[in-house]
Amino acid sequence: MRRLNVALADRSYPILIGGGLLSRADLILPFLRTKRAALVSNVTVAPLYLDVLARGLEKVGVGVTPIILADGEAHKNWESLNLIYDALLATRCDRGTTIVALGGGVIGDLAGFAAATYQRGVPFIQIPTTLLSQVDSSVGGKTGINHPRGKNMVGAFWQPKLVLADTDTLRTLPDRELSAGMAEVIKYGLIRDLPFLDWLETNMDGLMARDGALLAHAIETSCANKAQVVAADEYETAKEGGRALLNLGHTFGHAIETGMGYGEWLHGEAVAAGTIMAVELSRRLGWLTAADVARVRALFARAGLPVRGAELGAARYLELMSHDKKVIAGSLRLVLLKALGEAVTYADVPQEDIAAAIESCCRE
Ligand code: NAD
Ligand code: GLY
Repeated sequence: MRRLNVALADRSYPILIGGGLLSRADLILPFLRTKRAALVSNVTVAPLYLDVLARGLEKVGVGVTPIILADGEAHKNWESLNLIYDALLATRCDRGTTIVALGGGVIGDLAGFAAATYQRGVPFIQIPTTLLSQVDSSVGGKTGINHPRGKNMVGAFWQPKLVLADTDTLRTLPDRELSAGMAEVIKYGLIRDLPFLDWLETNMDGLMARDGALLAHAIETSCANKAQVVAADEYETAKEGGRALLNLGHTFGHAIETGMGYGEWLHGEAVAAGTIMAVELSRRLGWLTAADVARVRALFARAGLPVRGAELGAARYLELMSHDKKVIAGSLRLVLLKALGEAVTYADVPQEDIAAAIESCCRE
């Protein structure tokens, strides 16, 4: 088992990564406030993994309330959130109850927001079961739901007490979801870790073949990068750079997700196409070479990810992007690359350049 730490003073917490962790109630018990846990999962993940987790906890005397939601990004909304509150109230969960998210990023974001708000906040544990959630969404405390007008528009920062990533769960993950998670893995290389980008280029075929040791290394390196960024700028308030850099490709990607309808494109797929747009825009600004762009495209393609954007039209992209959370006082801050491995936030990109980058990435 590998162990990392997210250093946030008195709210610091460990990330445990390894095989066979779901049944290790002994790892979870020290992080429960009382011996009561609500396990939030969905109809796909619960039949696979809820029993082993619940049985382990019950064996050590923890009372377990399962809350099973519908599956999918289209359900990351008020209705699902209310179902969680309904179940917590119906089973008399109190402020000592720990909410445990068992699933991918959708369940993690929903359960985390429920934990942030139920009775003004209860303890929360993340047990991520997708590659994307193990390398990104379970770490850092961003929680929330979508609004029909925009992704993740309602939410809260609420750090978990523990992140427990059981890499064995990735064995049942569909190929398309593995690829989607790889978009966020590649992101860390592109924004701040050039040696990791090189390593990914060398090992992408093994990773996509689900080599356990390679996946564990990719998860650990991704989490280590995310933990450092979050520790330095927990609330994404840095004037330049900071946590916003984790959103490389996301402003374009969120436009695809919202514009196409939630669930049509997977989050990681939209991030991949959005990253190509950001990379192409960085080339147009003179920061990257055509060879850099080709290198990034090739890596995403090897990970089974789309390198071409959804054909929404540049005007629709720009309209959707104007609602982004990175718009401050009417000015859109984009995450771009000064070089491979070096991301910056940049506010002064002319709309024509953004539109041209979008159009070229939807054509090629
Ligand atoms: P997801 O939660 O929809 O999971 C993908 C699919 O895989 C679902 O159908 C799920 O039921 C299934 N699944 C999960 N684990 C499985 C397993 N082990 N075996 C088989 N099937 C399994 O999607 P995701 O990619 O994990 O997360 C995407 C979400 O995460 C988006 O809503 C995105 O906005 C959010 N996100 C949040 C943050 C954050 O910091 N909070 C960061 C990145 C992404
Ligand atoms: N996924 C972006 C963040 O956690 O800040």
